[in-house]
Amino acid sequence: MDKFVVYGGNPLRGTIEVGGMKNSALGILFGTILTNDICIIENLPPVSDITNSLEILRECGAKIKMLSRTSAEIDTRCVQPCQAPYEMATKMRASYYVLGAELGRFGKTKSAYPGGCDFGVRPIDRHIKGFESLGADVEIVDGCVCAEAKEGVLRGTSIFMDDISVGATINIMLAAVRARGTTIIDNAAREPHVVDLANFLNACGANISGAGTDVIKIKGVSRLFGTTYAIIPDMIEAGTYMMAAAVNDGSRVEIKNVIPKHLESITAKLIEMGVEIKEDEDSLIVEKNGRLSKVNVKTLPYPGFPTDMQPQMCALQVTAQGTSMLIEGVWENRFRYTEELRKMGAQISVEGRAATIVGVDHLNAARVKATDLRAGVAMIIAALGAEGRSEIVDIYHIERGYEDIVEKLRAVGANISREMIKEDEASANKVI
Ligand code: UD1
Repeated sequence: MDKFVVYGGNPLRGTIEVGGMKNSALGILFGTILTNDICIIENLPPVSDITNSLEILRECGAKIKMLSRTSAEIDTRCVQPCQAPYEMATKMRASYYVLGAELGRFGKTKSAYPGGCDFGVRPIDRHIKGFESLGADVEIVDGCVCAEAKEGVLRGTSIFMDDISVGATINIMLAAVRARGTTIIDNAAREPHVVDLANFLNACGANISGAGTDVIKIKGVSRLFGTTYAIIPDMIEAGTYMMAAAVNDGSRVEIKNVIPKHLESITAKLIEMGVEIKEDEDSLIVEKNGRLSKVNVKTLPYPGFPTDMQPQMCALQVTAQGTSMLIEGVWENRFRYTEELRKMGAQISVEGRAATIVGVDHLNAARVKATDLRAGVAMIIAALGAEGRSEIVDIYHIERGYEDIVEKLRAVGANISREMIKEDEASANKVI
């Protein structure tokens, strides 16, 4: 078991390159099942969520060859339905994409009810309703979701989503792409990774239009073909490094391989706080001088401020001048990490989905834990600004989604390292 050790206070200066988008890659990797062919997927982020997804695909019968650290050749011709390994599927939220993809190709599927970060209740009723509208019978048996197309085929239909769900939009697209007839998803998620998946599927021969708007039209095709496809850059990884660059005075970081349009809501809030941002075609420069000002933020589905940037934003608001509000508009319970920031001296009070943050002068170094993926990285951001030695434990959460985070931050001057947790410390960690 390892921990991150951070000595805060250093300005960050230099260049950070962003990798491929984890959440986009997850949909596309499972989407390869639909092709019954060979795909080459490039710009995959080498993080544990991706290695686990590749492992699930392998267990389903796919043949996978890593062509480099970030590209994989995936042959799904021998995939058989209902083979997703139970334990692995329970650990990852996105394992539910195997359901849509297998249902779309074979007309039947079975996989464990998915796990993932704990933000309160995480139902999948919208996915299930979508599959049922397409003509599948769905039941939950022994902790598994089992679905089967009536008469062996799915039929295109109109689906109105009561509330926006990224995962349900993706899963319904996967199931509908080879269905008979046309499917319309109304009130669809508009996230860049929904568009990326549509682009990938269209490159394989699908007929999807409207991705990126709230009405997606999918004309079913009888088969798809393999292709070579590169995943888009990760806007959440980029946003996280933008926030890391906004912590200490004198920081100036160029963030490369980004799509500035995807970052607009983050850029706008940082500028409001007093951070200087210069955009170029596929990079941006973040510069911080002087104390940050308070800012009010509400997370919303894209193009709103992303919920996956909420803890990182909080890590900046805690030392901004004045009182900031942070409202969580997507998840029921995404403020568990604020307890950890309080250990560093942050003044945060949470009521339901709203946090009130009174900016303090500075944070104190402390020993904190990563309570989930984005909360974990928020601890790093907070520790970069706190004078002295901070320790972050339970870093496996962070490694699910951030490639080489220690190396990338060290390259711009952060004093961060990965160290082994000694046995006596490990037992002490249980009580922090
Ligand atoms: C995805 C992202 C996650 C991000 C979230 C919102 C992946 C692997 N994960 O999660 O990092 O935080 O989008 O941007 O891409 N809901 C229901 N019923 C459903 C589905 C969702 O009630 O069937 C609710 C959820 O509880 C939540 C809201 O809808 O309150 C949004 O969830 P959703 O957009 O589906 O998130 P995910 O796709 O799971």
